[in-house]
Amino acid sequence: MSERETWSTRAGFILAAVGSAVGLGNIWQFPFQAASNGGSAFVVVYLAAVMLIGFPAMLAEFVVGRSTERNPVDAFRELGGGSWSVVGALGVFTAFWILSFYSVVGGWVIRYILGSAQGAYFGDPTGYFGAIMSGPDALALHAVFMALVVGVVALGVEDGIEAGTKLMVPSIVVLLIGLGAWAFTLDGAAAGYAYYLSPDLATLKANFWSVLPKAVGQAFFTLSLGMGAMVTYASYLGDDDSLPVDGGLIVGMNTLVGLLAGLVVIPILATQVSVEAIRQTSGAGAVFISLAEAFAQLPAGRILGVVFFGVLLLAALSSAISLLEVVVSYITQNSGWDRKPAAAVFGLAVFLLGIPTAFSASLTYAGTGALTWYNDLAYNLLLPVSVLGVLVFVGWLRDDTASVELTKGTDAGPGSATAWIWAMRTVVSLAVVVTLFLGVQDLLVAAKVLAEPIIAL
Ligand code: PHE
Repeated sequence: MSERETWSTRAGFILAAVGSAVGLGNIWQFPFQAASNGGSAFVVVYLAAVMLIGFPAMLAEFVVGRSTERNPVDAFRELGGGSWSVVGALGVFTAFWILSFYSVVGGWVIRYILGSAQGAYFGDPTGYFGAIMSGPDALALHAVFMALVVGVVALGVEDGIEAGTKLMVPSIVVLLIGLGAWAFTLDGAAAGYAYYLSPDLATLKANFWSVLPKAVGQAFFTLSLGMGAMVTYASYLGDDDSLPVDGGLIVGMNTLVGLLAGLVVIPILATQVSVEAIRQTSGAGAVFISLAEAFAQLPAGRILGVVFFGVLLLAALSSAISLLEVVVSYITQNSGWDRKPAAAVFGLAVFLLGIPTAFSASLTYAGTGALTWYNDLAYNLLLPVSVLGVLVFVGWLRDDTASVELTKGTDAGPGSATAWIWAMRTVVSLAVVVTLFLGVQDLLVAAKVLAEPIIAL
C-alpha cells in the first residue's frame, strides 16, 4: 500500500473541514429553515443544538478518525471489532446517498449562475425553476457538478482537497460579507433584520417540539456529521493538533457563515415581500424562486445573482468533495484501486443514484418527489442513526481511548474529557433519540400520504 496521505498544514485541515461544513446547508437551507420556523426563535435553538449537541458529536468523529488513521469502516473495526464497522459503513453509505441529490442541487446552482448572467429567469422566476429543476438539463448539470467533484478528489488530499478548499473557503467568506454589506444598503431590509435577529421567545415556546428536531438535524447536516466525513478528514491529521481547539474553530466558522448567509438572504427577501410571506417560504425551491424574484427586481440584479449563486456553488463543491472523499478513502484502502479510478468510478455511481432526483418533477411527496424522499430519508433516519452509533460507541465503549485521544496535542490530561464523555452519554444522545423519534414519525406520515391513493384502488 502506498504511504498514507496527510494534510500539509493545520490550516489546511481546518479550511478543508470548514469547506465541508459550509455548504448548501448553510446558505440554502439554514436561512429558509430559520425564515419558516419563527426566524430568530429557530436561530436560538439551532445555536444551542450546534454547541451542545453538534460540537461534542464532531469531537467524537475526530477521535475515531485520528486515533486510527483509517477510513470510517476500518476505523470502527479497528477500535471496536467487526460488528462496529457497521457504524462506519452506515456513514459511508449515507455520504454516498446524500451526495447523489446534493449534486443535482449543485447542478441547479450552475444553471442559476448562467441564468443570472443572462437574466433568463427575470421574466418568470417560478416558471423558470419549474422548467430547470428536472429533466435532461438538470441531469446534464448534475453530471457537470459531479465531474468537478471527481476532478478535485482525484488530485488527492493535499493537491486536490486542501489546495481547492484553501481557495474556496476564503472566497466564500469575502463574497458573503460583500453581499451582506450590499443587502444592508437596500430599502426595506430592516424588517428582515428585525425578524431574523430579535429573539421571539413566545414563538419559540409555542413551537419548541417541532423546531427541536429540525434544529438538531440541521446542526448535524451543517457540521457534516453522521456521514464519515469528519472521521475521514481527521484521519489525515497529526497528533500534535488539539482536536477541541480545531473543532471549536470549525464549528465557530461554520456558524458564522450560516448566520452571515441569513444576513444576506433574509433582508434581500424583505425588500420584496412581507415578513409574513417570508415565514411561508420554505422548501427546496425557496432560495431559487424567492431570491430569483428579488434579483429580478433589484438594481444590478444580474451581477448580484452571479455572485450569490457563485458563492453557493463554491460552498456546494467544497462540501461535495468531502462526501466523495469518504467513499474514495474507503475504496482505496480496501482494494488495489488507485485514487483516480476510484474517484471516477464512484463519482459515476453517485451520478447514477442521482438520476431519479434529476427527474423528480415535484418537490412534494405526493408527486414523484424523489428529492424530498432522498433528503428526508437522510435527514430523519440515516443521519440520526449514524450519529447515535458514533455517540454510543465513543461515549460508552471506548471512553478511555477517546479521552486520551481528545486531549493529545493539548496541555490537559485525559481526566478533563469527563464532561465531554458525560455530555455524549446524556444530553447529546437524548436529543438525538428524540430527533430520531420525531423524524421517523414524519417519514411514516409521509409514507402514508403516498400510500393512500394506492390503498384506495
Ligand atoms: N455540511 C454540508 C452543508 O451544510 C453538507 C455536508 C454534509 C457535506 C455531510 C459533507 C458531509 O451543506
